[in-house]
Amino acid sequence: MLYDNHGRPLEYVRLAVTDRCNLRCFYCMPAEGIQYLPKRELLTYEEMERVVAILAGLGVRKVRLTGGEPFVRRDLVPFIERLSQIEGIHDISLTTNGVLTAPHIPELMRLGIRTVNLSLDTLDRTRFARITRRDELPAVMDTFFALLSAGIRVKINAVVMDGQNTEDLVPLAELTRELPVDVRFIEEMPFNGGSHDAVLLPWNHVRIREHLSQHFPGLHAIPTDASATATEYAIPGHMGTVGIIAAYSRTFCGTCNRIRLTAEGGLKTCLYDQGVLDVRALLRNGSTDSEIREALVSAFQHRAANGFEAEQRRPLHQLSFESMSTIGG
Ligand code: GTP
Ligand code: 5AD
Ligand code: SF4
Repeated sequence: MLYDNHGRPLEYVRLAVTDRCNLRCFYCMPAEGIQYLPKRELLTYEEMERVVAILAGLGVRKVRLTGGEPFVRRDLVPFIERLSQIEGIHDISLTTNGVLTAPHIPELMRLGIRTVNLSLDTLDRTRFARITRRDELPAVMDTFFALLSAGIRVKINAVVMDGQNTEDLVPLAELTRELPVDVRFIEEMPFNGGSHDAVLLPWNHVRIREHLSQHFPGLHAIPTDASATATEYAIPGHMGTVGIIAAYSRTFCGTCNRIRLTAEGGLKTCLYDQGVLDVRALLRNGSTDSEIREALVSAFQHRAANGFEAEQRRPLHQLSFESMSTIGG
């Protein structure tokens, strides 16, 4: 296992397989979308596979595929199959918006995918269409129920937005009554591709919890992994759990176990850095595996102690121009 210069392990890589998306969530990008990368600038599946194999050799066990929307990229499933054959990779999961996911579920089962994180901010079709700017709620709900029927664990990710979906918190949490699902409420981060001004977080994790506690008085915290992003809560009598991700008011830096690879092959050792290593350049300039490995180790061992602190010092007007779709979440 590799440890960084602050004693944190490297266990988990988040791989953005594309920057493209078939939705236009307003907290992620403007209505017209973002400037997508030309195909040649994306890592190929072979390149990603090579990096993951090198990372597995360094002790990485878990890969999460993100985007954009991972299923917008062609031939994603055969790629997942190749990743699953890499020695040392024991956990592959996906963060998806669920629009194109349902038909792939039998294959995901066959490949041993145990968990899927599904982005779903509301159960109301009109509000869904307003938030994502696409009328795709029925397809997402099909995916949700098909995942549950397949026995794949589902974590719902709901970004909480003032004036957009706060009336959905209780209905979404109600899903946990009869279903074994983890519904996680996320503070809105200012990564919206310039879609709107940076938010001042009127709905922070404290307010979200208070709101839920009013409706579910028995809501109580339960233990989670040290490196988890969410604080988890149980509601007596409910099958599932509720989580709150204080993505923009708490720092997870002290227990961070992850790195990110952007769709264009930039290494981020922190959600908030601008990319600390051009892995694509190494992959394409004839570097050997051991040279790439050394470069990754060196970058990981020069990590900032707390990227969130630096983020908090960024001026407000600089905050909203990156899109989560390019960062990969
Ligand atoms: P698990 O592997 O299930 O723990 O997934 P996750 O919660 O790490 O990932 P997911 O892709 O479902 O992201 C949920 C939310 O957490 C998104 O809004 C992410 O941007 C946010 N998130 C993920 N990692 C970090 C992180 O390191 N720091 C912060 N602040 N937010 C993060
Ligand atoms: N703030 C918080 N979460 C976001 N996501 C996308 N944009 C933002 C944002 N600005 C979430 C998506 C997805 C996950 C990867 O990140 O809903 O579930
Ligand atoms: Fe697409 Fe996810 Fe961004 Fe929504 S939040 S536009 S689903 S990448």
